[in-house]
Amino acid sequence: MPCPLCDDTGWRPVETDGVRRVARCDCWRQQLGQQHLADANIPKRYQHCSLENFAAYNESLEKALAHARRVVTAFPVVTRGLLLEGQPGVGKTHLAVAVLKQIIQASGARGLFYDTRDLLRVIRSTYDPSIRTTELEILRPVMQADLLVLDDLGAEKTSEWVDETMNLIVNTRYNERRLTIFTSNYMDIPDDTDPNSLLFRIGIRMRSRLHEMCEFIEMDGADYRELPVNGGVDDLITLWKMRRKSLPARAGRQVRAQLRRQSGQLDLKWPGGRAGS
Ligand SMILES: Nc1ncnc2c1ncn2[C@@H]1O[C@H](COP(=O)(O)OP(=O)(O)OP(=O)(O)O)[C@@H](O)[C@H]1O
Ligand SMILES: [Mg+2]
Ligand SMILES: [Zn+2]
Repeated sequence: MPCPLCDDTGWRPVETDGVRRVARCDCWRQQLGQQHLADANIPKRYQHCSLENFAAYNESLEKALAHARRVVTAFPVVTRGLLLEGQPGVGKTHLAVAVLKQIIQASGARGLFYDTRDLLRVIRSTYDPSIRTTELEILRPVMQADLLVLDDLGAEKTSEWVDETMNLIVNTRYNERRLTIFTSNYMDIPDDTDPNSLLFRIGIRMRSRLHEMCEFIEMDGADYRELPVNGGVDDLITLWKMRRKSLPARAGRQVRAQLRRQSGQLDLKWPGGRAGS
């Protein structure tokens, strides 16, 4: 059945102050949104994610959800993105994908999801010093997307090439004021000698840019992946409390750092993190 508003032309008549014009029809924006959603590279595992099915059972998760909602509502007039940090399974990627999906669907914007390590792998695989165009073919949409989600920042192995590439991506988006949402397991503590700190992983210049580009939001909660099949919010709260008891997020940082120094263990991230992954 053709669209009753525009007869499938994508343009519908509008009248403002007695002047007749045409404007883009909602059906056109929806179709564009569907197309851009299919092109957004969202992994199958996260395609179900939405703001509505995100369980916010404590203050930090409520705050993260509120920030996510604000970004969605304000888009495209958003001055700062988000950096969601926290332990494995608290829902960082879920929330980032939910924002990405909602913005694409509502506005038809170009959005893109990349796991940071995957992105670097893809760029590297196309890297050919004699023809830099292939590298740019991957990089261009990443630098130009209206909204980019860079998942698991800091998990990549560092090298000069990685630093250069990441700086190029982040710097371009920073200069163009494009919206970016990052997630990370690493803690934003000012200790550049602690291998668990974001600063240690990404360096001082990148961290400084990120602080200007993004609101840093710490998410504290249970590992949702440990939730039994028929589990509910009460179980999440219990799991979260058990996790806190084993090592409270903030208070535990110094203790953890000390434990690490004592044990000489270097690649532990958050407690229970996928060490060295
Ligand atoms: N608060 C939540 N409400 C609903 N689903 C959640 C919530 N937290 C996590 N999940 C679900 O649990 C799974 C793991 O969450 P997610 O991948 O977002 O965690 P993460 O914080 O990104 O973890 P990691 O640090 O390991 O990447 C996903 O399927 C996600 O949809
Ligand atoms: Mg994640
Ligand atoms: Zn229409």
